[in-house]
Amino acid sequence: MNIDERQARLLKLTSIDFRSTEQFVEEPFIVSRAEGLYYWDTEGKRYFDAIGGIFAASLGHGHPRVLEAMRRQMEQLSFAPPMHGIADVTLDFVERLGSVTPENLNFVKPFSGGSESIEAAMKFTRQYFKQTGQPEKYKFVSRYQGYHGGTFGAMAASGTGKRKTPFEPQMGGFLKVFSPTYYRDRFSCWEECNRFCARMFEDVILSEDPRTVAGVIVEPIGNTGGTVTPTDEYFQILRQICDEYEVLLIFDEIITGYGRTGNMFAAQTFGVTPDILCGGKGLSSGAVPLGAMIARENLGDAFYGSEAEDVNFAHGHTFAGNPLASAVGIAVIDEIVDNDLAQGAQELGVYLVDKLRGLEKYGVVREIRGKGLLRGVELMREGEPCPELGVALKKTALDNGLVMRIDPLWFAVAPALIVGKDDIDELYGLVEQSVTDALAVLD
Ligand SMILES: Cc1ncc(COP(=O)(O)O)c(C=O)c1O
Repeated sequence: MNIDERQARLLKLTSIDFRSTEQFVEEPFIVSRAEGLYYWDTEGKRYFDAIGGIFAASLGHGHPRVLEAMRRQMEQLSFAPPMHGIADVTLDFVERLGSVTPENLNFVKPFSGGSESIEAAMKFTRQYFKQTGQPEKYKFVSRYQGYHGGTFGAMAASGTGKRKTPFEPQMGGFLKVFSPTYYRDRFSCWEECNRFCARMFEDVILSEDPRTVAGVIVEPIGNTGGTVTPTDEYFQILRQICDEYEVLLIFDEIITGYGRTGNMFAAQTFGVTPDILCGGKGLSSGAVPLGAMIARENLGDAFYGSEAEDVNFAHGHTFAGNPLASAVGIAVIDEIVDNDLAQGAQELGVYLVDKLRGLEKYGVVREIRGKGLLRGVELMREGEPCPELGVALKKTALDNGLVMRIDPLWFAVAPALIVGKDDIDELYGLVEQSVTDALAVLD
């Protein structure tokens, strides 16, 4: 698309996340409206949104049930800060979200997005151990290549070099291990690689002294590492290690939650329940800022006590538990449950993978990973990683009217859960066209 003088001038006065605004001006994407699976730019060109905004528009853009819930709630109450009160609809949200989580993950603290939820989970974990007799437990172990958010604590738990370096030094008390994809070529078998990588958490905990370690934080499927998809056994080992050393297992389900992987949460997909689960993004279908920290009820109990003893969770945000966001969250969960969209994601995910296999004939696919409607393709050329291909793909996809996440060593697609097979056919057609156009640029 082309931009006018006003847009060019104003782009200089803001910034684009994690990329050069100058380059963005060369390859701009300025959106004026969105509906269902599509965006339209300010020149009226239509784009297929193959990534739900950024893993957020879980029901597509402007879903009627979401809009209706917002409209109704707006007319009644749109702000009630949790400092001196709580909206009744926020209590409904607490109940509704708790009703779809596994086991006793019922203690729900709503927030305005993913980073806030992760930040809260880490503060909750540290305070929990302080007030239950193990104040020396404060360290967190997470993974290189993982991403948990842009705030300082979430960033310290993240393992993405370039996103952290400008802000170093990091907070202390954060340790990292590598995810299985990093080591896979050194093992003859994927399962063994996963066992090794899961056991590294134990090695780090033991080396640090288990009495000082509070939490393990992982995305069940890691996006920034390239749709890293461990085995079920990997998570079973993590669970066992955390139980053994009294470490809280925290799942960052900000991308993987709400039906995306074929169950309401990836915890159910992998068959392992964490102690704390963090949500965001698709929980509101991207319509309003919403996230949530969800802990086991017995952990929440530690924060319920008398004012005289000063028992409370020493944390909060002005917009947390916002009534409008709560009403939207309830509508999104209802829509997913009523239409069995998680099951749909499982079935359509198989169809999507079959389609993506069509790219193999171009010799560009090293591996297709993911679960349900969260899929990533690791790219290669002549058997080797080829970042130039991904860089070219970024441009050809946009030219072809396709929005997806491109790394450039891999690309990911995560269309809204409302897609049908026809939509996936359209998505794949655009992907294939964009890949062949990118190959032509390189030749
Ligand atoms: C896995 C994961 N965790 C946390 C976050 C942070 O969420 P937010 O950008 O809403 O603060 C993101 C954002 O991309 C994410 O992908």
